Amino acid sequence: MKIGKKWATSLMLVAGLSLVLAGCGGGSQPAQGGQASTGSQAAAGGGAEKVYQVGTDAAYPPFEKMEADKITGFDIEVIQAVADAAGIKIEVKNTGWDPLFEGIGSGAVDIGISAITITDERKEKFDFSEPYFEAHQLILLPEDSTVTKLADLQGKKIGVQSATTGETVVKKAFGDTYEGIKGYDDTPSAVDDFFNGRVEAVVADNAVLQDYAKKITDKKYKLVKDDSFEVENYGIMVKKGNAELLGKINEGLKTIKDNGKLKEIHAKYFGE
Ligand code: ARG
Repeated sequence: MKIGKKWATSLMLVAGLSLVLAGCGGGSQPAQGGQASTGSQAAAGGGAEKVYQVGTDAAYPPFEKMEADKITGFDIEVIQAVADAAGIKIEVKNTGWDPLFEGIGSGAVDIGISAITITDERKEKFDFSEPYFEAHQLILLPEDSTVTKLADLQGKKIGVQSATTGETVVKKAFGDTYEGIKGYDDTPSAVDDFFNGRVEAVVADNAVLQDYAKKITDKKYKLVKDDSFEVENYGIMVKKGNAELLGKINEGLKTIKDNGKLKEIHAKYFGE
């Protein structure tokens, strides 16, 4: 079931890219090196400028979300500012979470920005920019819950987004085969199931759960931090070995750290 959905999403992604590459996507024209480029984004002087494909799982507010058919959020503003500062063109696509990693691996996606925690395990397969955001896990619980730490969740049903660091901390605490863990393709589905009573807790990134907390006023719940939850750093991800692109991204990131643009975007989403 889960594999079927993942495959379907990957196939849709491949199909979509083939359309663009075939030049069927209204206004796009074949470019050198098999890269797609839309007419409006082609460089002056006739040469086709590379448009880097940015993938994200746009179901993770306030970092990325779909607003009508537009992808918005903190990460989207950060990557646009980085691209502007680095002088590169980008196009952001809602790939979903697992297909994002697959797409970077296959080369269908050039850049990943999706509140992705830089981990040693991921660093074996991908390269990451310098950090741009600090985070940690939190546990979403009913307000009257007696749970005060992760260990108290033993035996309970815990919702996580599959293949995230939320899943990692739960598996670390209760074992890889812990039966109570329920993995979802996206975080909103886990949170929905929490409010429907299908799971007793959700473990996810602090800023995302805090964002839910601000918006949901009609239900009673609380957020708990376990002492074992370590500092996580979000990074921008590229294919392993793509040093040229990573160099540009780090250069752009440094510029927006130095000139205050990153702070400005941060303040817009999280306050001073
Ligand atoms: N920071 C966590 C991780 O890297 C969760 C990120 C999930 N992001 C998303 N857009 N769904 O595993």
